[in-house]
Amino acid sequence: MTKTWWKSSIVYQIYPRSFKDTTGNGIGDLYGIIEKLDYIQSLGVDIIWLCPVYESPNDDNGYDISDYRKISEEFGGDVAFDQLLAEMHKRGLKLMMDLVANHSSDEHPWFQQAKKGKDNPYHDYYIWKAGSPDTPPNNWQSVFNGSTWEWNAETEEYYLHLYTRKQPDLNWENPQLRKEIYAIIDFWFAKGVDGFRMDVISLISKRTEYKDVPKDMSFIDVMEKVYANGPKIHTYLKEMNQEVLSKYDIVTVGEGPGVNLEHGPRYVSDQEKELNMVFHFDHLTLDFGPDGKYDPVPVDFIRFKAIFSQWDEALGTTGWNSIFLGNHDFSRIVSRFGNDGEYREKSAKLLATVLMTLKGTPYIYQGDEIGMTNVSHDHIDAYDDVETRNAWAAAEAAGKDMDQFLKAVHWQSRDNARTPLQWSDAKNAGFSQHTPWIPVNENYAQINVDAAEKDPNSILHYYRKIIALRKAHPTLIYGEYKDLLPADPHLYCYKRWDQEATFLVIHNFSDTPTNWKLTEENHSLIQSNYSEVLATELSPWESRIYSLD
Ligand code: NOJ
Repeated sequence: MTKTWWKSSIVYQIYPRSFKDTTGNGIGDLYGIIEKLDYIQSLGVDIIWLCPVYESPNDDNGYDISDYRKISEEFGGDVAFDQLLAEMHKRGLKLMMDLVANHSSDEHPWFQQAKKGKDNPYHDYYIWKAGSPDTPPNNWQSVFNGSTWEWNAETEEYYLHLYTRKQPDLNWENPQLRKEIYAIIDFWFAKGVDGFRMDVISLISKRTEYKDVPKDMSFIDVMEKVYANGPKIHTYLKEMNQEVLSKYDIVTVGEGPGVNLEHGPRYVSDQEKELNMVFHFDHLTLDFGPDGKYDPVPVDFIRFKAIFSQWDEALGTTGWNSIFLGNHDFSRIVSRFGNDGEYREKSAKLLATVLMTLKGTPYIYQGDEIGMTNVSHDHIDAYDDVETRNAWAAAEAAGKDMDQFLKAVHWQSRDNARTPLQWSDAKNAGFSQHTPWIPVNENYAQINVDAAEKDPNSILHYYRKIIALRKAHPTLIYGEYKDLLPADPHLYCYKRWDQEATFLVIHNFSDTPTNWKLTEENHSLIQSNYSEVLATELSPWESRIYSLD
């Protein structure tokens, strides 16, 4: 196993719109991040992953880029960005940007040109199919509902968009387009950026026959077998690596919808020379029901554990995992995998321990370090997210029970994770002087950074401790992993070991006390989220780390 800085690093993810507003327009900005760099550094993290901050009409909050080389004025523009990068590097923090190269905005000059005529030099930067306005080329459904095909009257063709119609897919078959993308990557590396998270990178190679999807295929299968892992994906990633990535000492993580155990190792193993890590979604789609994300079913805990074990095994010693439980596209981790009521504090600490003791690079999403929770607005109008709104409209059109659907929105909406970061109990949670672009969570008076700083027992202080603990013990980073109780319905118990040390980590993922006794004689307890530790029982959401001799 090779050891590198990005394997031993911890990543903190920022969703800039919701982080900190300094200009009083209700939208977070880069100066807000600069203001909070000392706070971020105090956590003990090494890398900041910044969600897109480029120029964008914001149909999908920056995941629709209209200028890949310009920072949006809304966020402070290029001047703010240069200052942010300098201030981060001064503190030894690295910056991972977000590369959105499966699609651009329809307002990008490339698309503006492309749609004008079939002989326009940019036309082939996108994916077109002939047809008539009432018959799309196939039955593909966009991730955000509706056909993936949009009619362009000027050329009498359809263009493909796997996301919104304002996010046309780029044509990676075109070598000139690929060159443009590599030049963009190079531009940012030359500026000093330390890496990229690559948005839906598993989707860039299309199955160009564009065959209909079988009617009864689940969304997860469509992703894996139809949209993702196309025939040239590894050719493109190898080329990208060769042309640009390999020239810098940087980190890459590919967002990998549809990347499963079979495909995963190819994207990240050392020999393949493609990416450093991927985000797979096996554990985050466990609650998708027969009708997908907004038809949720309970998470199968045994499967949840098995997924971590299977990926650990699949990546072996030549690949490397990313360890994350949520991000800006999923609900709050404490609400989804913990208990955000009575056991919010305990379960948030347990989840922090999971993140810091599994094998892989841990990713913390902003606000999880203070145990921020989901929101439950009673009206759809309080939701901003295009995915949520489109899913709502589709459900309404299908005549679904909308009270029931609102419950699904409460559980699954991406806005759960996008509410403004709760800095204090001041107006708007100390996020902005102005009404925020999206409502703050009502619980901000209790759950906020200020309060957490003052409480020595807070989730925030626990994060700092558990991060420091991981850093102090390379075994927790590189050591081997084995699940000791894979079939237990409540407990997740695993060993991490190498020649230096052995650790046993045990979590009680439940609201009930659970019998458990450590059998190893020579042990010392090095971390727990309870002050009193019982000999034969784990309390609700208790988490412990033992060092074994
Ligand atoms: C994944 C991003 O994380 C998400 O926010 C976005 O909507 C889609 N990709 C499309 O870019």
